[in-house]
Order: sequence, then structure tokens, then C-alpha cells
Amino acid sequence: MLTIGFETSCDETSVSVVENGMVLSNEVSSSVHLHSEYGGVVPEIASRHHVEYIVSVFEKALSDSGKRKEDLELVAVTQGPGLPGSLLVGITFAKAVSYALDIPIIGVDHVQAHLYSPLLNTGAEMKNILPFTGLVLSGGHTSVFECHDMLRPECIGRTLDDAVGEAFDKAAKIMDLGYPGGPLIEKMARSYSGKKMSIFPKAYLKDSPGIDFSFSGIKTAVLYYFRASDKSDNEKIRISFEFQEAVADVVMSKIKDAVERTGHKRIIVGGGVINNERLRQAIKEFSEKARIRLYIPEKQYCSDNAAMVAGLGELLYASGIRMDLGINAEPNGTMDNKKLEKKIKKR
Ligand code: KG4
Ligand code: ZN
Repeated sequence: MLTIGFETSCDETSVSVVENGMVLSNEVSSSVHLHSEYGGVVPEIASRHHVEYIVSVFEKALSDSGKRKEDLELVAVTQGPGLPGSLLVGITFAKAVSYALDIPIIGVDHVQAHLYSPLLNTGAEMKNILPFTGLVLSGGHTSVFECHDMLRPECIGRTLDDAVGEAFDKAAKIMDLGYPGGPLIEKMARSYSGKKMSIFPKAYLKDSPGIDFSFSGIKTAVLYYFRASDKSDNEKIRISFEFQEAVADVVMSKIKDAVERTGHKRIIVGGGVINNERLRQAIKEFSEKARIRLYIPEKQYCSDNAAMVAGLGELLYASGIRMDLGINAEPNGTMDNKKLEKKIKKR
């Protein structure tokens, strides 16, 4: 199946052509530089960027794929979760493509697409990967899933406040490092040569019914610590290192809890934060030791991209799911929403 995917849920305008899980092209135009002075995404600026770039990104993705419009067989588009105005740009464009080419359209959930992302270009068959424990660590989401069926991942934990990427972004903003904070904090932390002093609090939430996270405490601790410091580059480097260590300790503890609870021998971890080398290494070491098969995306498919949307769209279509031009933006997502929250299993 030849599928074109559209992703416009936040600050990346992305279009990708995927054929049976293999990526033929993946074009991304980011508006991240336009948000940097605000320390976070400004929704109106993001939507305007999508409107301005979607046509050229679409044309580039198509020409890079070596395919013609007429060859396309399916349109996949992110329905949510995401910024309503931004989602609408991608959905409207995708509907126009579906209508003009007279090919089916399928709306996908962005968080579920992050869960699918490590399977791109692997040729892996879903039936050989299920069941698995899935984690999405991104700027908008920090969720844990138990997956027996890729169509219905069951949420068994989530953040109770900030998402992990959001915590990186806020910590970076406090230190005036810029946006997005994740890569900037990682870079600062890399130049630290001292010992780990564990100066920041870690919320393990052992009494929480789900595999839940909380990052607001550490963010506040960074704020007070930085205010009381001499605000030198050396202090920023030390705070970045200690912050990243604290986050990595919490994430690793949660991964261990999740795997213990599900008993699964496979884990999938996706989302922008998994660009982080410290985390990638820790997760790889843990899975090797625990003899758990780890699926982690190639770096280019960690952050928001349309390839994961197209790939998941193909999978849903092949599973018999059908939609039509009546689909709309679902800013709370089609999977990771309040209804799902009620289904969080109690320990
Ligand atoms: O998945 P993503 O592109 O967008 C959402 O769906 O939210 O994730 C973006 C998030 C941002 O918060 C960014 O700071 C974080 O991923 N991020 C990182 C790194 N690269 C991006 N966090 C930690 N270390 C990184 N190297
Ligand atoms: Zn994302």
C-alpha cells in the first residue's frame, strides 16, 4: 500500500510517503525557531506556519518519494491530540488530497503514532511484537501503555502534571537556555565533569494506582536552585546534568515498574524525549540486562514526523478500519483521552 501521511499537531509541518511500513520520504518543516523567544509553542504562530508551508512540504515529500500523486492509495492524518488550529490545517489539506485523488482517508492518534514509530523501516509484523509495554515520552505526553492489540493500547499510567519534555523545556526556560529545552539541556549536561550529587527531588509516586509520573516538583526545585545560584555557565551545566539525571532515574524506575506489572518481554519507547542519549543508553542497558526486546525509533522518527502517521494509518487500514471525509480534529486525541483515563487499571 502506498500511503501519504500528514502531521501538523504542534510545531512541525510534516508530510511523508510510506509504502508497507518503509519510508520513501519524510519531509519536516519546523517552526521551532519562531517560538524560541517565548520559551514554548505559541499556537497561532504554529498554525500560520502550517498554512504557509504545507503545500511546499507536500510537494517535496511527493517528489522525494519518486512516486506520482496518481500512485497514492491512502491518506493518513493526525486527528489529535494537538493544537486545534494546527490540526485543522493538516486535516483540511489531507481531506482535499483524499477527495481529489478519490482515495480513502484515515485519521490517527498522534500518541499511538509515536508508539508505532520504532517499527518504521523494520519490516516487523505486528503479530510478532504483541504483547508489548509502550511508553511515549514527548513534549505533550508521558504515558505508559499495555498493548495486547495495537488498535487498542490500554493506558496504565500517565503524568499527573507536566509531560517529561515539557519539564525539560521549562527547566531550560528558567535558565534562559532557549526552546526546545531537551537538546539544550542534554548538550549542557554533556560538558559536566563533576560527580552526581542528586540535588533535585524525584517523585516516584509509589502509592499511585497507575504507573504515574510527576515532574512539577523537580521543575520548581530547579527554579529555586537557579535563583539562589550565581547563574554562571558552570552552574547551568551542573543544574542541567543533575536535572537530566533525576529525570532519567525516574523514567528508568517507571519502566522497571511497568515491565514488572505487565510481565511483557517487549518494550516500545517513542517520542521526542527519546532523542536523549542518556535516556537511550539507560533504556538499552536495562533491556539487555532484563532480557527484554527493546524497540526504539531511529532518531529522525523520535520527534514529530508524518512517517509514523502514515505507517500507523496503513496498519489501521489493513486491520479493517475505515473512515470518511467527516473526520475532524480531536484536540484531546482519539485514544489518550478522558474516556481512556477511566480505564486505567488499578494496581
Ligand atoms: O514528540 P515531540 O517532537 O512533540 C510532542 O509530541 O510533544 O517532543 C518534543 C519534546 C520537547 O519537549 C523537547 O524538548 C523534547 O521532546 N526533546 C528532548 C530532546 N530532544 C527533544 N528532550 C530531552 N533530550 C533531548 N535530546
Ligand atoms: Zn509528538
